[in-house]
Amino acid sequence: MIISLCDDPDAVADLAAQRVVDLLHDRPRAVLGLPTGRTPVLMYDRLVEAHAADGLDFSQVTTFNLDEFVGIGESHPGSYRAYMRRYLFDRVNLSAGRGLVLDGLAPDPEAECLRFETLIDAAGGLDLLILGLGANGHVGFNEPGDSLQAETHVMTLLTPSREANAVFFDDDVSQVPVRAMTMGMGTILKARRLLLLATGAGKAATITAAVQGLVTTHLPASFLQLHAGVEVICDSEAAAGLR
Ligand code: GLP
Repeated sequence: MIISLCDDPDAVADLAAQRVVDLLHDRPRAVLGLPTGRTPVLMYDRLVEAHAADGLDFSQVTTFNLDEFVGIGESHPGSYRAYMRRYLFDRVNLSAGRGLVLDGLAPDPEAECLRFETLIDAAGGLDLLILGLGANGHVGFNEPGDSLQAETHVMTLLTPSREANAVFFDDDVSQVPVRAMTMGMGTILKARRLLLLATGAGKAATITAAVQGLVTTHLPASFLQLHAGVEVICDSEAAAGLR
């Protein structure tokens, strides 16, 4: 596991975006896995800048998002598809149909998860999967508990996760859906490379436990220790507890 320490969230965004830029230059048809949340917003801004200023080309790229809420669709501003349109999809030249997000309005969410997993495999797997970190140690929406699931699946969200997402729902936690679909831990670990982004003091204890603590289902991010191609990019506040 490589740990890249940055001074601040801007530097985290610069480095994370640089990893994507380098990949797309080497591999214009790259398959990316993408996160939502507050942490990656600046990285998406950098990618949009690289597209506008330097012609970074997304036309042959395929992206798969980590997760999506069940019960809301892209017309809902809190949906992750709406987030992705806002921060990336509508601001670069990603081809139609190449920005894949689980369909929160699918009538059968379990079947939707299976369809998504099949699409990732059909695309040849993920070249680079970028992850944020839940303060409770979740990645995607793989929540802490007594077990983890390997493949893309439906998850009942824990209260802290719903609270952390309330910012996208008028700061009203009661509006945050109770269930979500998420890539499974196996789906995540099958990606050829992983980037884990963490910024701010609120992530310090979690990043320390995830990177240097026991591998446990009670801290799903700790499973990233099992992958040979992980880079953790964090700012000085998030890195405060690392030895
Ligand atoms: C949500 C997403 C996660 C993300 C997490 C971190 O819960 N499902 O994939 O990593 O938020 O969010 P933030 O970056 O806002 O701290």
